[in-house]
Amino acid sequence: MSKRFYLTTAIDYLNGVPHLGHAYEKIVTDVIARARRSLGQEVFFLTGLDEHGQKVQQAAQAEGKEPQAYCDELAAVWKAFAAKLNLTNDDFIRTTEPRHKTVVQGFLDKLHAQGDFYKEPYEGWYSAKEETFLTDKDRRPDGTFDPSYGEVVKLVEENWYFRMGRHQQWLIEHIEANPEFIVPDYRRNEVLGFLKHSTLADLCISRPAARLSWGIPLPFDREFVNYVWFDALTNYISAAASHGDPVVCAALGREAEISNLQSQISLWPADLHVIGKDIIKFHAVYWPIMLKAMGLPLPKQVLAHGFWQKEGAKISKSTGNLVDPMAVIEEWGVDAFRFYVVRELDLGPDGNWTDAGFAARYQAELANGLGNLVNRSLSMLKRYRGGILAAPHAELQPDAEQAVAQTRRHLEANELQAALLAIWGLVNRANQYVDQTAPFKLAKDPAQAARLDQVLYNLAETCRVLAVLLWPFLPATSAKIYAQLGLAGEPANFTSAAWGGLGEGHLIGEPAPLFPRKDTPAKAA
Ligand code: MSP
Repeated sequence: MSKRFYLTTAIDYLNGVPHLGHAYEKIVTDVIARARRSLGQEVFFLTGLDEHGQKVQQAAQAEGKEPQAYCDELAAVWKAFAAKLNLTNDDFIRTTEPRHKTVVQGFLDKLHAQGDFYKEPYEGWYSAKEETFLTDKDRRPDGTFDPSYGEVVKLVEENWYFRMGRHQQWLIEHIEANPEFIVPDYRRNEVLGFLKHSTLADLCISRPAARLSWGIPLPFDREFVNYVWFDALTNYISAAASHGDPVVCAALGREAEISNLQSQISLWPADLHVIGKDIIKFHAVYWPIMLKAMGLPLPKQVLAHGFWQKEGAKISKSTGNLVDPMAVIEEWGVDAFRFYVVRELDLGPDGNWTDAGFAARYQAELANGLGNLVNRSLSMLKRYRGGILAAPHAELQPDAEQAVAQTRRHLEANELQAALLAIWGLVNRANQYVDQTAPFKLAKDPAQAARLDQVLYNLAETCRVLAVLLWPFLPATSAKIYAQLGLAGEPANFTSAAWGGLGEGHLIGEPAPLFPRKDTPAKAA
């Protein structure tokens, strides 16, 4: 059983419908998963939903529904959304599933038995309206709390805490010794700065069930439910356990039970957690500590992406400043959406969605760039040669090989935006080649028949190579290019990007526009 390349996204809170930020993270993770598969790795891609805790309980209450019924209804929407985005996730975990809950409880039991937890009263200011504890730091300059908190009272509450102190030093050393552990490097520096300049407070891992019932009960103290972050982070190993991962099952003492599984998949340690910058501390501080305490190896990498704004302002349900991914996909197609988010925003910095920018990229890079190249290349082949290719010719081979090598290098380093730039280098070169060689003129001169054959071969073969390179990013488009070329199957194997795949006498299929032109000034959402 060889270990898979195991990559995950954050699991989204189930307290609303998906927005651009959720979609972005899932798309970039899918591009990485597809790229690895194309490059020959065995991959396991996990995504899912974070269904417990106050946010979800309140959202259910607001709709007058039982939390479980609320989650079941909404989870169906999110699963359909994942399919709409064309994600190739191998599993979809929900934290309300029994397979997850048993792992969380096993995890808690083990750490409790080891003495990692203690129970203590906490005294603080409490806002019942916001269901949150406040500190003196939350006071306004005049000493009062913001009226949005409602009445703030002094409250004493017992809770369970996870001892953090003994973990601070080794974690600093681990991060320093493994520069790849947190990327980009400015996020690593942020985490190191935090760990070196402050004392890690013990983590409160419980909430009294009397106050918050929607959670996983602590197996050793039923008066409490588990803090939602402890619960949520555990999804990465509960999914692995449910597939019989030997490392996780051994740590949980579940080897016997798991050995009955039909098939076992080796997953842990995760190779890559893709998350947003706002939850880096949970993934790069608390999660490694939880794993270390459990006796499990740490994930190889945590990649923190940036945040999207829309038209220069925060994306927010309350102000209505949202990008509705479903509406964009309806209007422009899923590949246009996938393309824009990966092309516009490199992995790491923050980005800004603009409707005008979306429409401009669609027009220039998809319709006039890629779409035009494929359509005119194949249409000319059809018109001048009945769709039948002449002998292979290698005029564009060096350009294609350069793009293939650059794309491979960038995909191996998860440099998705740079990979797209390399691919578009070839798109632009091939469009320029059409203009330079002018096949429409060659077609008028019988003495140029052999030259026209060469040009048409170079163009068709470049389209084929592009389909292979594009597959991780624009899978539907790349499948269409393959079909229009008269090729069977999906271009899902990177090695088939080698020049010369189309043979003499090959008959292509029917050309059709890949990206219909939008003539009216379009609105993207
Ligand atoms: N449930 C937690 C994650 C638990 S992971 C063990 C959570 N959920 S979330 O729904 O608030 O966010 C899910 C992911 O979407 C996070 O990685 C978050 O950073 C990302 N994004 C949420 N808003 C975003 C933007 N505006 N832009 C980009 N990504 C954003 O946090």
